Amino acid sequence: MNTTFLKACKGEEVSYTPIWIMRQAGRYLPDYHKVRSKVTFLELCKAPELAAEVTLQPVDILGVDAAILFSDILVPLEAMGLTLEFHEKRGPVFPEPVRDKAAVDRLIVPDPEEKLGYVMDTIRILRKELKDKVPLIGFSGAPFTLATYIIEGGSSKSYFQTKKMMYEAPDLWAALLDKITDCTISYLKAQAAAGAQALQIFDSWAGVLGPGDFAEYALPYVQRIIGELKGAGVPIIYFANNGATLLELAKTSGADVLGLDWRIKIGDAIARLGQDVSVQGNLDPCALLLPPDKLEQRVAKILEQAKAARGHVFNLGHGILPETPPEKAKLVVELVHRLSKRM
Ligand code: CP3
Repeated sequence: MNTTFLKACKGEEVSYTPIWIMRQAGRYLPDYHKVRSKVTFLELCKAPELAAEVTLQPVDILGVDAAILFSDILVPLEAMGLTLEFHEKRGPVFPEPVRDKAAVDRLIVPDPEEKLGYVMDTIRILRKELKDKVPLIGFSGAPFTLATYIIEGGSSKSYFQTKKMMYEAPDLWAALLDKITDCTISYLKAQAAAGAQALQIFDSWAGVLGPGDFAEYALPYVQRIIGELKGAGVPIIYFANNGATLLELAKTSGADVLGLDWRIKIGDAIARLGQDVSVQGNLDPCALLLPPDKLEQRVAKILEQAKAARGHVFNLGHGILPETPPEKAKLVVELVHRLSKRM
């Protein structure tokens, strides 16, 4: 098996820099549309054979060094008892937002094999099919990011309702985040037990918090998850999006790897983080639209600066956009492999 990705996560020596791409399975790939045209997004997440098929597409098409389970960070919230819908234009919607004690009390902490068995089945199929290829990454959302979706009822601009609960009802906030954290711990443990070889925690909206609020209202729950997962023996990646001002705090999460978005120079991030954590990132997803020579310069710059890191996994600074030409994704994989090759 190609273990370059796992080695870079742990800071071990590698012969080239591994790369995978956030949202690598998805709408920029015509092959994804072929599968997706027959089912809804949630049906696809819940059909293990199909979810495994779209997980494998970018591994074969792009030649990335890791596969990421095809699913969504929001499905465990449905398993906690909430209604989840995906609307074609609006994205995810929770028609009954969680804003009071009664709603928090109604949430259950599910048994993952019972309520999210389709995710574990997808992982088991993938481990069989990926056998001698690349490692499989499992994932979850971070409690703060998950809480924003169910409090706001979907995506948001200002996170007003979320911050209103944080500030006006801190005990309710703590009870809600504790429940989501309990659910996430058992969910990620189940993914590792089913065969996930690394786990990424997506904190997509962490960057809407200032450092003080991040430390008080979001980070402790991530620390608890990672502390509980140490025994699972798989590397953990924590990606706090838009988190350049949160880096030193994010490091105290205990993650093996910190994901970096593109808003910071990777060399500056590494200088601040030091040598006891690996980094992942951080090309602007839109940089894939640059002409090939300019793209090559950008990739080379990141690789050069990242030599200072304990370990580096190349990635975009956030998910690949649906409008991206697949050839450009393929090119970035080739560039990273060629330019980082150690003699
Ligand atoms: O390839 C992979 O990375 C694995 C699959 C994956 C999806 N979502 C598939 C998906 C992963 C890891 C996610 C995580 C996820 N989901 C995040 C964290 C990553 C990030 O982007 O910050 C978030 C915030 C979500 C919630 C979510 N899911 C939103 C806001 C949306 C709608 C907006 C959008 O990007 O479409 C989704 C839907 C979704 N999740 C799609 C896919 C492929 C599109 C669904 C479709 O086919 O119509």
